[in-house]
Amino acid sequence: MNNQKRLPRAAITGLGVYLPSKILTNNEIATFVDTSDAWIMQRTGIRERRIAGPEETSLTMGLEASKKALVSANLTGDQIDLVICATATPEYIFPSTACLVQDAVGATGAGAMDLSAACAGFIYALSVARAYIVSKMARNVLVIGTETMSRVVDWTDRSTCILFGDGAGAVVVQAAFDDAPALGEIESVVLKSDGSKGCHLLIPGGGSKMPASEESARDRQHYIKMNGPEVFKGAVRGMADAFHQALKMGDLQLGDVDLMVAHQANARIIEGVRSRLDLPTSKVYQNLERYGNTSSASIPIALYDAVRENALKEGMRVGVAGFGGGFAWGAAIIRWGNVPIIA
Ligand code: COA
Repeated sequence: MNNQKRLPRAAITGLGVYLPSKILTNNEIATFVDTSDAWIMQRTGIRERRIAGPEETSLTMGLEASKKALVSANLTGDQIDLVICATATPEYIFPSTACLVQDAVGATGAGAMDLSAACAGFIYALSVARAYIVSKMARNVLVIGTETMSRVVDWTDRSTCILFGDGAGAVVVQAAFDDAPALGEIESVVLKSDGSKGCHLLIPGGGSKMPASEESARDRQHYIKMNGPEVFKGAVRGMADAFHQALKMGDLQLGDVDLMVAHQANARIIEGVRSRLDLPTSKVYQNLERYGNTSSASIPIALYDAVRENALKEGMRVGVAGFGGGFAWGAAIIRWGNVPIIA
């Protein structure tokens, strides 16, 4: 008899989101830059996005999403071993936003770190959580994607300001020890990157290369700069390839997947990924019309809405794929569990 114990599996058991109440529509954007609702809808599929109020930040939004994820998983903060916060818009350069959440949720025994992979941050953070659990370094991990993109968007640049929105999502990832298939299990994850393309999507100022100065502020160097067509091509190719590889790694076929939730960047990008994979439209979930691109928060927010709208149910297999600045991208396959939705 083989007495060797199976390694624990990592399963998503809790999910929470936070979205600011302020809505900014395309028509409102058209009052301050030269654009139109028709152009934005046709090129991106985005109709409106949420914008953080003066008191809302990546910390406050990430914290609210985390509290809901903990309730959803029926855990308290002190049961968390590790807090990972994926964000491109942290509260500070340091301390990490993860440490601030760790304190606020009372995760007194937990390690905490921020993770920088821009819009791919949630997939990256999920993969770290899974690795910690499978290697028995943690049992309960809080994974957060939180972004205040409205504070790094150049509101005079019509090619970028139409795309992004604010919000946060969080999941609890827990160890599953028994031999039965774990509902919620993250069955496989793939991460990829290509730093040679970093110049196509970046915020040049504010780091060690270009610290904030009067000149950097005047030249608008602290805002997102983007080569749209390059990012578009990279995102379609990257997410489709990573999705394929994640399936292969999990010994799965495309037909085994019930739903795809891709990073909510642009409806045309998602359509490009769908068509490259040859997935039926009915298996693609999309909510970017309401929120725009919320970077690392987009996947957990989309998972939340998919559950709320009954598009994602217990037992279904969902493939998630992300892509962002770096370039960094990845995909994961999850057997969805019974994850209560906390309003
Ligand atoms: N309203 C009206 N016109 C606009 C506009 C806007 N908001 N933004 C750009 N344009 C104009 C451009 O100035 C250009 O005009 P020109 O031909 O006179 O120079 C024209 O529209 C076409 O621009 P182009 O950049 O080729 O459009 P596009 O079809 O590639 O769409 C994006 C632009 C940004 C929507 C698209 O490239 C995209 O979605 N890229 C990926 C962005 C992304 O998802 N980034 C985050 C990834 S994590």
